[in-house]
This record gives sequence, C-alpha cells and structure tokens, in this order.
Amino acid sequence: MSAKDRLIIALDVDTIREAEKLVSMLQDHVGVFKIGMQLFNSEGPEVVNRLHSMGGKIFLDLKLHDIPNTVGKAGAVLTRMKVFMYNVHTAGGSEMMQKAVEFTEAESAKSGGSIPLIIGVTVLTSINQDILNNELGILGSVADQVVHWAKLAQDSGLNGVVASPKEITAIREACGPDFVIITPGVRPTWAAANDQKRVMTPGEAVKAGASYLVVGRPITGAADPVEAAKRIVDEMGEV
Ligand code: C5P
Repeated sequence: MSAKDRLIIALDVDTIREAEKLVSMLQDHVGVFKIGMQLFNSEGPEVVNRLHSMGGKIFLDLKLHDIPNTVGKAGAVLTRMKVFMYNVHTAGGSEMMQKAVEFTEAESAKSGGSIPLIIGVTVLTSINQDILNNELGILGSVADQVVHWAKLAQDSGLNGVVASPKEITAIREACGPDFVIITPGVRPTWAAANDQKRVMTPGEAVKAGASYLVVGRPITGAADPVEAAKRIVDEMGEV
C-alpha cells in the first residue's frame, strides 16, 4: 500500500457542502475520508452517498456500542452503504464484536458488495490512567488495557483497532503484522498540536507500525490543504 493510500482525512465539518469541497480538493492526494458523528448526525446517510458518487473511500467513524444484536444489525446497514471501514467500541465485548462480523459478512454475501473492514476503538486518547482507574474503574495501565482490547478484537474477528501512536508498537507485537492499526494524534513538526496531547510525526507513526494515519486539522485547516497533504505523504514515505 502506498503512503497516500494510508492517509485518512477527518472530515470534521457540519455540512455536505464543506465535505464535498474538501473531497474534491484532496481526493487525488489521500486514500480515505473519515465521516464522524458530527457530519453524519448533521447530514445523515446522504453524505455517504454523495462522497461515494465522487469516488471517495469512506471510513464511517460512528463507534457503535450497544447490545450484540443491535450492533450487528447496525453493522449490516453500514455494509449496505458500502463503506470501506466502520468501527465499534471493543468495550462492548467479544459477543458484540462477533455479531458485527457475522452480520457484516452475511449482508455483503447477500448484496454481493465488498466487506467493510471492522475496526475496534480501544482506550480513547482522551482517557488517561487516572480516569481509567478512578472514573471507569478499570485497573492497570492504559497501555495494558489497549493491548488487552486489541487482542480481544482480533480474537473476535475484527480487522484492526484505532489506538494512539504511543501504543502502536505494543499492539503490533501482540497482534502480528496483518492486524490493521489506525492512529490519530499525528502531527508533523510544522503543524500545531491543537488539543492532541500525545502526538507523533507521520514518519514516526509509520515506522512504529501504523497501517493508516488519521489527520484532520493539519490538512483541513491549512492555508493550502493539498500542499499539506502532499508534505505529510512525503514524510510518511521517508522512513
Ligand atoms: O484534527 P485532528 O488531526 O486532531 O483530527 C483527528 C481525528 O481523529 C478527529 O476526527 C478525532 O475525532 C479522531 N480521533 C482522535 N483520537 C481518538 C479517536 C479519534 O483524535 N482516540
């Protein structure tokens, strides 16, 4: 896979119009577009259809988390929408993840479409050790919990996980070379960190073993987004 194919752009905007503008500008320079809860809840499934009609590959980042049957059925709906990947919370447990896989496979066999990659969200990067232990009541370190959930996701049939750059190496060791690792919190040295705290550069993240990088504001907020995307793709390849 080329560096460009590994770059996912976060379309953190409210409207189809803004999203279309970013996609038409960037689609020759990046691999995948991420639609999250902001854009999806604002515009609904129509935004997926519109960006597909422009030729974009979609990561639908809705972080499903509910009882197994409900997540399975929602996964079937997302499969019908022909997204390239979607995600669920690993905290929903193995039965929930297995149902997502089962319903997704059944739906794609029925509709003849390709199977979306199903990705597990591990510990959110906004959760630190204090919050994990004292608010969520989960003992141990963030890193151990991330690896535990990554292994659970793999054993449940998921294709990969989302995790912070700092945990890539440990997940790669635990889950092997074919497991997909998607990492946000990527910042080139020339971009502002914004509210991301534990960041890595694009080159460092790829070198550590990331399969895909999610980048938002360093590209979407740049004076010249195309130039910023090209620079990041170059830096990803320089490892
Ligand atoms: O603008 P920025 O590059 O910080 O955007 C990163 C994207 O990755 C956002 O859409 C954010 O919601 C998402 N993300 C994250 N940290 C996580 C999970 C998702 O930053 N742990």
